[in-house]
Formats: sequence, structure tokens, C-alpha cells
Amino acid sequence: MRTKTIALIIGARPNFMKIAPVMRALKKRRRLKPVLIHTGQHYDPNMTDVFFNELFISRPDIYLGVGSGSQAVQTALIMTGLEKVLIEKKADLVMVVGDVNSTIAASVVSAKLHIPVAHVEAGLRSYDRRMPEEINRIVTDVLSDYLFTTCKDANRTLLKEGIGREKIYFVGNVMIDTLRFLEKKVRSNGCVKRMKLKPQAYTLVTLHRPSNVDNRDAFERILSAFKTISRSDQIIFPIHPRTLKQMKQFGLYHLIKKERISIIDPLGYLDFMNLVVNARCILTDSGGIQEETTVLGIPCVTLRHNTERPITITEGTNTLVGNDTKKIVKTFTLILKGTYKKGRIPELWDGNASERIVKILNEKI
Ligand code: UD1
Repeated sequence: MRTKTIALIIGARPNFMKIAPVMRALKKRRRLKPVLIHTGQHYDPNMTDVFFNELFISRPDIYLGVGSGSQAVQTALIMTGLEKVLIEKKADLVMVVGDVNSTIAASVVSAKLHIPVAHVEAGLRSYDRRMPEEINRIVTDVLSDYLFTTCKDANRTLLKEGIGREKIYFVGNVMIDTLRFLEKKVRSNGCVKRMKLKPQAYTLVTLHRPSNVDNRDAFERILSAFKTISRSDQIIFPIHPRTLKQMKQFGLYHLIKKERISIIDPLGYLDFMNLVVNARCILTDSGGIQEETTVLGIPCVTLRHNTERPITITEGTNTLVGNDTKKIVKTFTLILKGTYKKGRIPELWDGNASERIVKILNEKI
């Protein structure tokens, strides 16, 4: 049987840990030939290069180098670059993950070239169309031929939206595959020691959503909460380039300058996850961290009004608090007192999702 070429699309930081395990699983199958294409949506070395070394993703076969721009410019540049490459490489299937601009751009181009699209992490919805990622999710799912989901709720959502049952596969969570694969290395990594932190005696923060950092008032309310929390717990804040830019532009740094808040550069996977596994809790507006903390049993306070990952609330350790200063501090206080809820691990978040995906693709294409 002819070898089938599978183009794997990555662009932004959260894509790397999702593609790495699928790539590993594909390499075990002689019939399936992966081609790794990096759009270059994220380009700072600490947002991209460090992950290649740690996650065992081979170097990208193709790098498009699109960089920053408005969402339309960025998406258009990715589409223009990808069209040429997918034709040249004669891709038999294009795999996209998550909900970033690279995901939607690749799905549109592939669907129009009549190349089947596989979407990993299909069917997640925040029902908030002001989030760029929500548009990316909806469009990608409509155009996909294989929809791989992390939970049964997502299957139901897709069916409700009219997607054919035969296209939907509940396989589990590839992000957790990476976590389980590297868990030993994560735990022995030593970042906490190097930073002279005491386990369970600091709070880890990440923040980058436009709704939080592009709006001065929301950003200020969040920083006020950090200021209060830092009087009880040291805060470690690896800062996304977008957030740093906005903090400077809004002149908000003075709010936290004198507090126990360490602002540091974005970290690689192993360092960052070492800080996660040892933290008292995480305050975040990320999508993936809500899932990782659920699996690890670490309290996660999500600085958003909604989540496309409700299972992390109903089954896991996640709570939504928006950007209200009082709510953030109140939830942190529950954690500090030890009265915060405990969670459990959702079905099939077991480290084997990628193997399931590749088995299905091997049978179907
Ligand atoms: C993107 C994803 C988001 C994901 C996040 C993880 C979209 C719509 N958003 O958001 O879903 O959670 O990545 O990190 O795809 N920048 C740099 N260096 C970089 C990358 C970005 O300085 O390496 C700056 C850019 O100049 C830009 C800003 O950060 O102003 C935003 O970058 P962009 O890729 O558009 O979106 P993110 O906010 O990173």
C-alpha cells in the first residue's frame, strides 16, 4: 500500500505539546509519513525553540516564518504559505490541533484543496464569539473530516451542530499524553529549587488573553488581586510577550513593582511544569493549563468568564472567577485555608490518546 503523507501543522506554543505525542505515534507506523510544518506564528525563542529540544519533536520540515500581525494578516500569511507547501508535499491528510490562528488557516486551505482535515481537540466551545479562538474552533470543526475529541460533551456538541456521527471520535487528551510521557523529568527538573521556592508555598500565574490584557481596567483589576494575594504567597509570573507589551503601554507595572511578584521570561515545558506540580495553586487564563492542573490535582483559578473546557470544572480542580478582584482573592483564600474542592481525572485522559488517533487514521486513510 502507498505511503500516506500526513502534514502536521504547528504555530503557537500550545500546539507543540499536542503534536509531539502524535508525531511519536506516527513514527511507529511505516505506512504513515509525518511532515511537520511550523507556521512561525510564535517566533520568540522562548515561545518556540526550547520546546523542540524538550518535547522530542524533530525539527520542522518546513518553517513558514509568518510572525505577528493583525489576525487577518497573520491568518492570510499562513494560508498563502501553506497552500504552496501542501501542494508540493502532496499531503494526503492535514492534522491541526487546538484553536489558534494557524489551526483555522490550515483547515481552510486544506479543505479547499480537497485534502482531508483531522482536528485534534474538536468540539470545545466557550460560546463566546468575542474570543478569536472560538471562531477558529467553529470553522475548523465544520471543515474537518476527522474530529478527535477529549470528552463526551464535545461529541454531543458536535452532533448538535450537525456534524456527522461517523466523523467524531472520542480519544482522550493528547496534552496529557505529553504530561505523562515527561512526568518523571518534570518532577525531577529542579526549576523550583533553582528559584529557591518552597513547594506548595507559592502561586503560579499566567496571563495573555486579549480580554484580560488588552483592556486596561480588566488588567488593573487582575493585578490588584495579585497584589493582595502576594501578601500571603509569593507569586511567580512567567510573562507572555503580549502581556509585557500591554503592561508597559498601560503603565501598570508600578502596581506590583514593590510586591512579592517575580516577573520572569516565558519558560520551557519542563521548567514550567516543574513550577506547576509544586505550586500551591495556579491563576491563569490559559486553556491547556486548566486541563493539566485537573490531571495533577492542583487548584486552578481561571481568570475568565467562560471556558471551552467545562469538564475541568465539573470533574476537575478548576473554578472560573473572571477578572473581578474580590472573586479572585476569595477563591485564593479557600485554597490557602485548605477548603478548596478536590477533583478527579476525566475519562481517557490517560496518556494514550495519540496512539488511539494514529490507530484510527491508519485504518481509515
Ligand atoms: C496565541 C493563540 C492563543 C494561545 C496562545 C498561547 C490565537 C488567536 N491565539 O495567542 O489561543 O493560547 O497563542 O501562547 O492564535 N508575540 C511575541 N513573540 C512571540 C509570539 C507573539 O512577541 O513569539 C507577540 C506578538 O507581537 C503579538 C502578541 O504577542 O502582538 C500576540 O501573538 P499571537 O500569536 O497573535 O497571539 P497570542 O496572544 O500569543
